[in-house]
Amino acid sequence: MQIAVVGSGYVGLVAAACFAEIGHDVISIDNDAQKIARLQQGEIPIHEEYLPELLKRHRDNRLMFSTDLVGAVRQSSAIFIAVGTPSTVEGDADLSYVESVSRAVAGAINDYKIVVEKSTVPVFTSNWIRKVMLLDGAPAELFDVASNPEFLREGTAVIDFLYPDRIVTGANTARCSDVLREIYRPLTDGSYYLRPDRAAIPVPAKWAPPARLIATSTKSAEIIKHASNAFLATKISFINAVANICESVGADVKEVCDGIGSDSRIGNRFLNPGVGYGGSCFPKDLKAFRHVARENGYDFSLLSAVITINDEQRARFLRKVRTALWTLKGKKLAVLGLAFKGGTDDIRESPAIEIVKSLLKEGCEIRAYDPAAIERAREVLPAHGVSYMDSPYTAAQGADALLILTDWSGFANLELERLRAILAYPIIVDGRNLYDPAAMSNHGFLYYSIGRPDVQPGRSAGKSEKMATAISGKVD
Ligand code: UGA
Repeated sequence: MQIAVVGSGYVGLVAAACFAEIGHDVISIDNDAQKIARLQQGEIPIHEEYLPELLKRHRDNRLMFSTDLVGAVRQSSAIFIAVGTPSTVEGDADLSYVESVSRAVAGAINDYKIVVEKSTVPVFTSNWIRKVMLLDGAPAELFDVASNPEFLREGTAVIDFLYPDRIVTGANTARCSDVLREIYRPLTDGSYYLRPDRAAIPVPAKWAPPARLIATSTKSAEIIKHASNAFLATKISFINAVANICESVGADVKEVCDGIGSDSRIGNRFLNPGVGYGGSCFPKDLKAFRHVARENGYDFSLLSAVITINDEQRARFLRKVRTALWTLKGKKLAVLGLAFKGGTDDIRESPAIEIVKSLLKEGCEIRAYDPAAIERAREVLPAHGVSYMDSPYTAAQGADALLILTDWSGFANLELERLRAILAYPIIVDGRNLYDPAAMSNHGFLYYSIGRPDVQPGRSAGKSEKMATAISGKVD
């Protein structure tokens, strides 16, 4: 099928590349001419695993890049809208990009097409798209509007697309629903997974073909998207709140997570406490969902509590740093991680960026390392007070403490002896619980984490034990 994907950001680009991978002819559209020119030349604007391989495979073959929206719409049977829906100051989603694309699509319609919202949008958006398209002269019999939310996580977006837990297609007519079914057929009939030439992308553990498709109305699909993100964020705030109780009573949140997560009704995924959720989705989508509920007469106060707990988590982390270091002014801090989570260069709503900004305000000197997000961080962090390092070890060299703010997998395997030798003081404040406290103690660290007791250097730690005990003596 010929597909147009409007918007070549994280969602649009991954969707375009994956639609090409499962056999469709795709035009990826963006109004940023520079971005399109770079994509045409094979440059990849985002850090996303396996995306470079897919773009290389399909570019100039099944996948084209263009700024010509009208031309792409005329050629295509399905137009996916994957443009940004940022938050307004009131917390609802700014749908002006969705509206202007819908109007442009309306003017270009020449035969039956489906117009599919892929961006995260509030309930009723598909009704609005239909209304503005009709007002702009698109004949009612020549289009249907559908909602096909994505459940891609940044960093594993390609895997999530090709090996999904479910595909949700919201449509109000059988004709539209059939087109969506046809688009996803290679995944839902399993034929894609039998293709010898499919991209070499690892199949997630426990995933078995074929993919499951859930067909709903457009409104249900819109709610499914917001409710899924809201539920996941609730899970994170819940476990952060439990971690805080664990800290108060001296319990270990990891043991608690094992205990509750092994109940199959609860499950152990998304139960990692830390510095709070961030990213371009959860913070924005929770506010938008709460706003939609309010507009429709329901006070979704649970979501307000989830947001409050999340905000407090950053402040709690800063208190931990103070507990570890006493005063902050003039302290040299190694910061590992700037992205909102591991596996991405995205720093939108990143807890790490907010924490670094607060530490700078307190007069700290930051030595930051991130495998992918440094360039983006430079654009938002003050030029003064932050130096960007090329490895965790150069960041740690001579620092008063090391802070772990992002769960990059590489940060969980640091050479601890080396780290202890180069830090001015053997202090680690781990906002992602990447290490075992007992092991850190044995390696001679004063180790602070989330929801678990702080540990002192163990007996075998020698010189750093004395040093660290002296430091902890100040704060006891
Ligand atoms: C999220 C959803 O997981 C996707 O299903 C959805 O498609 C996407 O939003 C979207 O709406 O586009 P993403 O924002 O890429 O995906 O990241 P997640 O992996 O969900 O993580 C979100 C935040 O929660 C990160 O800051 C992460 O560090 C944090 N998190 C996650 C925790 O603090 N603890 C956890 O156990 C899991």
